[in-house]
Amino acid sequence: MTWSCLRSLRFRCLTSKVGVFILLLCVTGICVFWRAETPSYQPPREERHCACDRCLRENGTLFLQRFDKFDEPFLSANHNLSEEAFNWWSRLRSNNPTFSSYIEVVKKIFQKFPKTPELEPPSPDRCRTCALVGNSANLNGSHYGPLIDFQDFVIRINNAPMKGYEKDVGTRTTHHVMYPESSVNLDDTTHLLLFAFKMRDLVWITKYINSGIRRGRTFNTDLMSIVNPAFIKFVHQVWLKKKGYYPSTGFLALILTLHLCDEVHLFGFGADSEGQWRHYWEELRNKLFKTGVHAGNVEFAMIKELSQNQIIKYYGGY
Ligand code: C5P
Repeated sequence: MTWSCLRSLRFRCLTSKVGVFILLLCVTGICVFWRAETPSYQPPREERHCACDRCLRENGTLFLQRFDKFDEPFLSANHNLSEEAFNWWSRLRSNNPTFSSYIEVVKKIFQKFPKTPELEPPSPDRCRTCALVGNSANLNGSHYGPLIDFQDFVIRINNAPMKGYEKDVGTRTTHHVMYPESSVNLDDTTHLLLFAFKMRDLVWITKYINSGIRRGRTFNTDLMSIVNPAFIKFVHQVWLKKKGYYPSTGFLALILTLHLCDEVHLFGFGADSEGQWRHYWEELRNKLFKTGVHAGNVEFAMIKELSQNQIIKYYGGY
């Protein structure tokens, strides 16, 4: 083979490689354009779960597998807690209360508080958007305030302040998640989502309801829902695969929010670079705390998975 023959062969090889490269480039370009231009598939209206662009129930099996297993997140007068779930719950923080004492307290609560919490089923005519606001320092300087306030429901957790942080955390609250030790006064229109981690928390409620005296905290008892202890067990076992001692209030609130909303926007979740659950309003008090008894890394991995599967929208701060 002559030298010029070799050169022309090399040249042809090179041009064919360039050709293939250009072809691949075109195909990629077309695909990207196609994805951007083509609206994602939406089922017909009557088959839809809500009126949002994306309803979280329409997004993937990850959510459905876990979601469909629990349909009574709140206590009601006629709920039945299995003894097994009671035993799990009562070991969390209580001093070995008996099952019968639990039944007695719950009966007392619902004598004065007969309301069955309303969990309005999703409807193709409505889009309930929710902002769940955790307490992470990643909110500082985020300017998320208006975006948080823009959602239909704004759900806050524990004793987090808004005053002085409005730009980053917003000003509205429609629902407040708390337990007795983390409680704050609520205005008359805010829904209280009460987490009872122990018997004393349920007894705490009976005091408010029985006496009618608003000692201690103020909140509208007509707008109170008490989270079912079995729900806490469910989240621990099904969502977190039993990692951590029990789920954090924030993670429980997130799964609860998936039950209440059609579209979930999640703010204020995430540890700092040292793995600490630092609050947006205060200096770190205990460097050994990290994420406490909760499996912070597992919870955060689940948040990322939910976000990657477009089930929730996660905002990680700036
Ligand atoms: O600290 P606190 O329990 O009041 O915060 C509410 C929730 O916000 C936590 O239970 C946790 O799920 C979440 N959080 C977080 N990252 C932080 C602080 C709190 O994910 N840095």
